[in-house]
Amino acid sequence: MKPIIAPSLLAADLLNLEAEIQRIEALGLPWLHFDHMDGHFVPNIAFGPDFVVAVRRKSALYLDVHLMLDEPLSYVERYAQAGADGITVHAELDCAREALALIRRLGKKAGIALNPGTPAEVAAPLLDLADMALVMTVQPGFGGQSIKAECLAKAAALRALAGRDILIEADGGINAQNAQQVVDTGVDVLVMGTGLLRASDPAGVVSAICGASA
Ligand code: DX5
Ligand code: ZN
Repeated sequence: MKPIIAPSLLAADLLNLEAEIQRIEALGLPWLHFDHMDGHFVPNIAFGPDFVVAVRRKSALYLDVHLMLDEPLSYVERYAQAGADGITVHAELDCAREALALIRRLGKKAGIALNPGTPAEVAAPLLDLADMALVMTVQPGFGGQSIKAECLAKAAALRALAGRDILIEADGGINAQNAQQVVDTGVDVLVMGTGLLRASDPAGVVSAICGASA
């Protein structure tokens, strides 16, 4: 099956976001990945619900929100109202189960994310409430890092633990060179920041991964 490519807004030209959204749409890519970073859960700060409101006004893309926050519960409802389609929270947090339940109650797709050092088993008691599991393939917080390919073994482990066919997303360091290796481990959704939006030929990257008709 062809993977879904979810371009990561973090790697976009931040002074030209409207043009960047149009560039992503012109590539024929249906998803957009947002990183909300709080400066505590990860050592960086990025985006917020108002970015999703602004993008939703202009675009029908599937808005895939990745919350790297100590306290995601304070933001889930705002992202749902803002027009997010999917909201992902981290399995390392005590409130993860409550957050997943809230996301689903609000009618959104719920995702559970695992940092590189977090074993797949940590997600086991959460997967019944998840539509997607996100395998971090870099230490979260920054774009432009190299993939930690050893994390990819978690893709099959998470699918087995879920016991049903949930979506598996990988995030961090994915580019045209390693995308096939990532897909071969069972990943359905490739988050791509630097490796796509800052590539010299993004359309070439998309067709290399998805084939010419992507
Ligand atoms: C990192 C973020 C990623 C980031 C990926 O913490 O979660 O979504 O934008 O960027 P690249 O593809 O450049 O590694
Ligand atoms: Zn992300």
